[in-house]
Amino acid sequence: MEQRAVITILGTGYVGLTTAALTAMAGLKTYVVDPNPDRLASVRSGKSFFYEEGLDALVAKAVADGLLIPTDSYEASVPESDIVISSVGTPDNPDGSSNLKYVFAAATEAARYLKPSAVYVQKSTVPVGTGAKIRQAFAGAGLTVPYVSNPEFLRESTALRDSLWFDRIVVGGDDAAALERVQDVYRQIEASRAQIAQTAGLQAPAVLPKGTYMQVGLESAELIKVTSNAFLALKISFANSIAVLSDKVGANVTQVMDAVGADARIGRAFLNAGRGYGGGCFPKDVAGLISAGLEQGVNLEIMRAAQAINEEMPGYIIEKLQNSIGGSLEGRTIAVLGLAFKAGTSDARRSPGVKIANVLANAGATVRAYDPQAHAEAAAYLDDAVVLASGTDDALRGADAVIVATDWPEFVDYAPSAYASVLSGTYFVDALNRFDMQAVHDAGLEYIGVGQSV
Ligand code: NAI
Repeated sequence: MEQRAVITILGTGYVGLTTAALTAMAGLKTYVVDPNPDRLASVRSGKSFFYEEGLDALVAKAVADGLLIPTDSYEASVPESDIVISSVGTPDNPDGSSNLKYVFAAATEAARYLKPSAVYVQKSTVPVGTGAKIRQAFAGAGLTVPYVSNPEFLRESTALRDSLWFDRIVVGGDDAAALERVQDVYRQIEASRAQIAQTAGLQAPAVLPKGTYMQVGLESAELIKVTSNAFLALKISFANSIAVLSDKVGANVTQVMDAVGADARIGRAFLNAGRGYGGGCFPKDVAGLISAGLEQGVNLEIMRAAQAINEEMPGYIIEKLQNSIGGSLEGRTIAVLGLAFKAGTSDARRSPGVKIANVLANAGATVRAYDPQAHAEAAAYLDDAVVLASGTDDALRGADAVIVATDWPEFVDYAPSAYASVLSGTYFVDALNRFDMQAVHDAGLEYIGVGQSV
């Protein structure tokens, strides 16, 4: 096992900082490189720039121990590093294809400083074929450094848990020694797992995942990541299609999916109907897969359908509210609870809650929105007319209706009677089917779910 490799992580984002905190806590000197001075300043002060359970404690300790070193300089980090991991952003272009300018910029800049014995690792989600192009560019520059694809499967809101108790680590490439060296980094995190979990204040899960290490070819590794996300997106859109049908025929989609998912061949996870998926990954990974398919002449119609259904869900929910309210939403006051794309994170990228708030504001409603963590990140995407409230009650007060768009515990655990007592109107939209609809109904509210009704 390689001892004390020096690591550089390019990109101090959700993935890069989480990974860096773990490698540093495993005792590996770790540089995190980013051009964004605010993100670096935050790390330097011992804090993450985003909310993720347990992460601040790790960042604070690793920075204090001198093992986590933020810098904007490739020159100050890459030459010393045995393993250089790229985790820069891969936003999508307007046509849905992946924008790889950061990926290639990072590789090009790193190539100037990589030592011959280093390994270059791609952790960003990139379309299949990207690794081959970077390898070609390295070869063109006379570099023989091995290239390893190491897709990331962490989920925001459970990022540290996912990384400490992982289902699988996938490494792809054709240099067996390089694949082993990358796996060694994870073995060292595993070896420090108990102590890292303690510092982060995390409990081990009751049932430990298998923690499998998988070595595959480069193209397979690249495809594994997007295929995983695409399949999960497919499950959500499938559940939403059945929800729309359930609304028509008076079925309850939650009951349907509970029974369907009880089949071990199918599984219950991600068969949840609601306002659809969002965030920095699913929408762009689905679009990226469609676009990568088209480049190869493969029309992934199944993913186009998943994408189209997902786009429709926020509007579908608003239409249900509009029909219940009896006509126009203009002049109505609507509370939107939840702007993060899911509970447990401050990330508001492509957030359905934000989309719902914006559509309502454009329809002439007065929107009072609240999220326990995501105001700062959501502000960039919110229509100027949306008012940010100071708390749940502040959002609800005087509203004709509430839409619970993110299932933060403080919204889900808030008693229906409390909602009823603060709201002016009676419309209660459960955009993730997370409430006991009978209890909401019994509190005197009109329950509006997705594919289920009282
Ligand atoms: P992010 O946008 O939070 O972070 C990317 C960072 O890269 C930014 O701080 C940016 O300033 C920095 N950057 C841009 N160009 C750079 C350069 N040339 N050198 C160094 N840094 C540079 O992105 P996030 O969410 O961390 O995602 C990173 C990658 O990981 C993406 O490909 C994403 O699809 C993938 N991924 C993300 C997951 C998530 O839950 N956020 C989960 C699994 C994969």
